[in-house]
Amino acid sequence: MGRNSLIAALAAGLALLGLTSAASARTTQAEFRPVPGGFSFETPIFGRFDQGSLQRGYKVYDEVCSACHSMNLVYYRNLCQQNGPFFDPKHPNPNDAPICKAIASSKKVPDIDPDTGDVVQRAATPADAFRNPYPNKAAAAAGNGGAAPPDLSVMARAREEGPVYIYNLLTGYVPAPAGLTVPPGKYYNPWMPGDVGSYWAGAKDKVPEGGFLAMPFQLTPNRVSFDDGTPGTTQQMAKDVATFLAWTAEPKQTERKEAGLAVMIYLILLSGVLYVSYRRIWKNVAH
Ligand code: HEC
Repeated sequence: MGRNSLIAALAAGLALLGLTSAASARTTQAEFRPVPGGFSFETPIFGRFDQGSLQRGYKVYDEVCSACHSMNLVYYRNLCQQNGPFFDPKHPNPNDAPICKAIASSKKVPDIDPDTGDVVQRAATPADAFRNPYPNKAAAAAGNGGAAPPDLSVMARAREEGPVYIYNLLTGYVPAPAGLTVPPGKYYNPWMPGDVGSYWAGAKDKVPEGGFLAMPFQLTPNRVSFDDGTPGTTQQMAKDVATFLAWTAEPKQTERKEAGLAVMIYLILLSGVLYVSYRRIWKNVAH
């Protein structure tokens, strides 16, 4: 196959892929609204998690989301590790940090009694994963109209534009437009990816964007009262919990950026040294 025909075949293949995916994925979603003030950690290289926002975001998770959502990959000690919400340089070992011990011991987690084999509840330690609100997936689904609340540990990486999506979803509940029948136990949200066409009585070319989900609106104003005096608006709680979920999905982001920066500085210095030595080595060679 000649080069041109190879390129043509590739282009045709790509076009076909585009067509088929356009045909199968009919889900729609409203365009994202910007997050007020933006997310500090989204700035490349120099962006960092705002520790105040992480602490508030944990509080939102703890007081609201944790009633339904597990976070199986996150341990109480993680909250006190470097760059975490409650990191304190005086207690660099997160297992010994008083805040994490206190947070953990206020939670009850299931365990097995070594003498009787019975399942018992005991106070958590920093080494335990976040308490799961449901004993198993079936119970989680049964408690939420058949849709089990997904684990939130890495949700911010599992969805496109994760933190921005989470912010838009949580703040985006609106009454369903007239002509849209919302199934029982479901809620309409323009930012939930979906296809509501078969529930729509209006014009075929005016099907509302978005979808239905089994999670009702959560962040009513002042549902969480922040210890630092930040007003508990819907937007603030959503932004902070999205920040917290971005951190749990990539808790080493700051270390990664710092390492990247160090590597860049090293490479720039190395280039300088190499250039100077190149000039010196070839100094006396006519060219
Ligand atoms: C009353 C229980 C309940 C509470 C409280 C709750 N959720 Fe949910 N959430 C659900 C259920 C159920 C689903 C699954 C929805 C579905 O797929 O229909 C869900 C789904 C989600 C999703 C995934 C949406 C998607 O793209 O599939 C995200 C993100 C989410 N919740 C975040 C949160 C956050 C953050 C909080 C805390 C502010 C929270 N939830 C509080 C029940 C809850």
